[in-house]
Amino acid sequence: MDETYDVIVLGTGLTECILSGIMSVGGKKVLHMDRNSYYGGESASITPLEEFFKRFGIQQPPASMGRGRDWNVDLIPKFLMANGQLVTMLVHTEVTRYMEFKVVDGSFVYKGGKIYKVPVTATEALASDLLGFLEKRRFKKFLEYVMQFDENNPKTLANVDPHKTTMSEVYKASDLCTNTIDVTGHALALHCTDDYLQQPCLDTINRIKLYSDSLSRFGKSPYLYPLYGLGELPQGFARLSAIYGGTYMLNKPIEEIVMEGNTVVGVKSEGEIVRCKQLICDPSYVPDRVKKVGQVIRAYCILSHPINNTDNVSSCQIIIPQKQVSRKSDIYVCMISSTHNVAADGKYIAIASTTVETNKPEEELQPALHLLEPIDQKFIFLSDLYEPIDLGKESQIFVSKSYDATTHFESTCQDIKDIYKRVTGMDFDFDEMKRKHKDICGDE
Ligand SMILES: *[C@@H]1O[C@H](CO)[C@@H](O)[C@H](O)[C@H]1NC(C)=O
Ligand SMILES: *[C@@H]1O[C@H](CO)[C@@H](O)[C@H](O)[C@H]1NC(C)=O
Repeated sequence: MDETYDVIVLGTGLTECILSGIMSVGGKKVLHMDRNSYYGGESASITPLEEFFKRFGIQQPPASMGRGRDWNVDLIPKFLMANGQLVTMLVHTEVTRYMEFKVVDGSFVYKGGKIYKVPVTATEALASDLLGFLEKRRFKKFLEYVMQFDENNPKTLANVDPHKTTMSEVYKASDLCTNTIDVTGHALALHCTDDYLQQPCLDTINRIKLYSDSLSRFGKSPYLYPLYGLGELPQGFARLSAIYGGTYMLNKPIEEIVMEGNTVVGVKSEGEIVRCKQLICDPSYVPDRVKKVGQVIRAYCILSHPINNTDNVSSCQIIIPQKQVSRKSDIYVCMISSTHNVAADGKYIAIASTTVETNKPEEELQPALHLLEPIDQKFIFLSDLYEPIDLGKESQIFVSKSYDATTHFESTCQDIKDIYKRVTGMDFDFDEMKRKHKDICGDE
């Protein structure tokens, strides 16, 4: 092959597929390869169930699990925030037309050994058992303050400097107690640790607004989930790329990243060198260009019952704030079921996860696993988290970050925007992704 691609992308994880979709829409000539025979890389959904069991060395699932092809098990459990950046990307690129979404039925938080529904409107706060009587009033006032907060309108700020005042100071001014702060920071602002307390308050206030705006779109929870599993997302963006001339190849072993001096010029696969100007890839393709920054432990649990004390919902998230179980990082549970076409009838998939803090990671998940009992079958998997060691300026190799323990896609979207800027030199502009309708209407 003589032709030179603008960009070669290695690995078909969500980050890579969104980038190749956007680059293709933007007119770049893109070649996308994966060593696996399936889409999704680390962010794949595994189907049928037999394939998932084989990953853990079990040849055959028990007959009680039903038909294997009714299952799609996500390797990375996450939900989409209804008003979040990934949904904007899906809508602008019209990738939504390849997929169907359902609202997640409930969002819960763990306090003092029990599960409570997360209150987010002032009315819910007043009705919830989560907070004591006086605290309810204070929380309602706090939420009202946050909702009207506009960084560009000093009248709404009440002497808070969005870029200087810390979140800890904002809480103090609202006189909230520790448990309420825990729920707000971890179940509404979705921070995984308490580091945010000492940082400027604007980010946290915007996160609470994102949660609230997302919730108000559909009412039950702020989260969406695609039918047939998260693996549909990378495939949707791969189709987008293909419509705009992107070339996809699965089952392509990658032997070498070819450099001239310190800059990438191509990729060698099956003895053949394909030339490119830039390379985007996941960490597994360039082990010498990434560093390990931590670990995430995930327990994939198959249940035959909804989780207790969740009103028998068929999907939900449970957040266990770190302080509640004397940890530094939160523990999460994402639960989905046959109503999302990811499990056989009457079955539930609950995935518990957290950032590893000790050398006994499985024990760290106990508070979550305890809530899921009885568990029909449990699989534990420990993943290393990688980040690139450089920004790719000289090498023109741009490496994505591993998927972290957060249960939504906001940090993934941030990584996509960062890589986009480094690759193109331009800020990521959601409107740039708007599909040009020539392929559909035919009137170029
Ligand atoms: C949940 O389902 C169980 C078993 O069918 C039932 O006994 C229980 O009352 C249900 N709980 C709620 C809150 O609907
Ligand atoms: C959930 O409820 C069932 C039925 O009442 C019970 O057998 C099980 O132990 C409960 N699980 C937990 C974690 O409380």
